[in-house]
Amino acid sequence: MIRSHMEILQNMLLIARGIIPSFTRPTYVDGTNRTNIAIATEKVVGIEIIERRRLVKILYDLYRYRFGNKKRLVLLDLGCGDGILSKYIQSRCPENTFYLLDGSSKMLAEAKQNTLGPNVFYIKQTFEKYISSEVDESYYDFIYSANAIHHLDLSFISKLYAKIFRELREGGLFMNIDSVLPSSDLSERWQFNMWRDWTNEALQNSGLNDQIGRYDDIPLQYKMKPENKPSSLFDQLQALRDAGFEDVDCFYKYSIFAIFGGAKNPKRSNG
Ligand SMILES: C[S@@+](CC[C@H](N)C(=O)[O-])C[C@H]1O[C@@H](n2cnc3c(N)ncnc32)[C@H](O)[C@@H]1O
Repeated sequence: MIRSHMEILQNMLLIARGIIPSFTRPTYVDGTNRTNIAIATEKVVGIEIIERRRLVKILYDLYRYRFGNKKRLVLLDLGCGDGILSKYIQSRCPENTFYLLDGSSKMLAEAKQNTLGPNVFYIKQTFEKYISSEVDESYYDFIYSANAIHHLDLSFISKLYAKIFRELREGGLFMNIDSVLPSSDLSERWQFNMWRDWTNEALQNSGLNDQIGRYDDIPLQYKMKPENKPSSLFDQLQALRDAGFEDVDCFYKYSIFAIFGGAKNPKRSNG
């Protein structure tokens, strides 16, 4: 379906403001999702990206709590997309080494534009390939992901978390920002209502009163997309524990959007 220029522009503004989450970004007739333009707009609208900004900030806060002022850490961004999350950390800690992994060359090309630097490396690989590839034991300090792992089913996620645990150094940290599966139909109804209410409040706060209600079907669109296979938060916290992680917890959750993860702590000596 060919969208009007006005509709495309309006959607880009809403995406940039975080009102439409990235995984529901519309695909345009040329097959792109125009994330570069969205990023440019994001810089203009600034703090209006409320929940996404909050989740990214919490991820960075947890990184700071864990690593303090330690420098030259090695980081891996799984499903980096256009690299916005890594860019956020890179702009604050440029001396770190960043590995950005994604299955899409197009997204990696965008990530390159956003994060290019002497200590940034790009890996074109699917999660499935990553899971079965050779383990780089104890290589990374911090592994993180946003809005990507919900494309895998729980059995793959369990394998992914096990691999992440092995690739982390002792003292390392893993954090995942992602949508999770509600625990019942009723819970889903409430959480989808929260999502709609939040979107409409954000529209109202942005002065877009004429748009209120227009995006009420986004939760159902998200649910109907076969590529979205969210697992429950409880199952994923258990998968993290089973993989060996400690201090496993969910650090923030709003509707179906959560940030959760765990630490790989140094082994205690028996003596
Ligand atoms: C919605 S985007 C999120 C991008 C970025 N992390 C963010 O939060 O803006 C999901 C990304 O995961 C990647 N992805 C999805 N499934 C994947 C898979 N099985 N293997 C590797 N990358 C995958 C997509 O190419 C896309 O760039």
